[in-house]
Amino acid sequence: MTDELKKAAALAALAELETLTPDSFIGVGTGSTVNHFIDALASRGVRIRGAVSSSEASSKRLAAHGIPLASLDDAGELPVYIDGADEIDHGFNMIKGGGGALTREKIVAAAARRFVCICDEGKQVATLGRFPLPVEVIPMARIQAAREIVRLTGGEPRWREGFVTDNGNHILDIHGLVITDPPALETALNQIAGIVTNGLFARRGADVLLLATAAGMRRGERPPFPASIQFIPDP
Ligand code: A5P
Repeated sequence: MTDELKKAAALAALAELETLTPDSFIGVGTGSTVNHFIDALASRGVRIRGAVSSSEASSKRLAAHGIPLASLDDAGELPVYIDGADEIDHGFNMIKGGGGALTREKIVAAAARRFVCICDEGKQVATLGRFPLPVEVIPMARIQAAREIVRLTGGEPRWREGFVTDNGNHILDIHGLVITDPPALETALNQIAGIVTNGLFARRGADVLLLATAAGMRRGERPPFPASIQFIPDP
């Protein structure tokens, strides 16, 4: 069932590409939901110039389908980035990195004008944190960074033993968090020496959510500014 929902979300993402011209590059995330998206891109013959990939795994799959790969340097700013999430809250803040691709995902997402998150309803939560928060660390800093994480968050960082990221680094998964202020925690964790980045996507959350539910697809958009600073037109 979950896989069917992932597939439905991935197919729905094709509609988000309809306004693109055939010379566009798109950003492509990582994971089982994105795998369906890559397969759909190929099987539906969507015309794009190429893709900037967020992982070796996605690059391999894109290449196997004959979809041209581009570096971020060559592609420049991207009109859209399509990716899944491990958790997403109602403000479209996310936890990502269950597959360990968080750093490249964050880089490609940062280059995109629009982040389209595709996932099944099981990923939507009121408060982030039940899914252990992945953090990519430089190997020599792992234990030191873990101590700092405990001090900062009170959570329990566990080494994802045996796993090496595409960047040659290690992952700590922080268990036991209740994340009430995602942008603040994202920023604070990134100040710890040796942390490359963490899997909170709050400072740059999703702009569009395509949520597959048992009752059908749902599409939501995040307002462009927080409600408190929205422009009020003159009367
Ligand atoms: C990869 O590192 C992750 O950020 C994925 O985007 C996330 O784990 C979602 O994966 P699935 O689509 O496999 O659930």
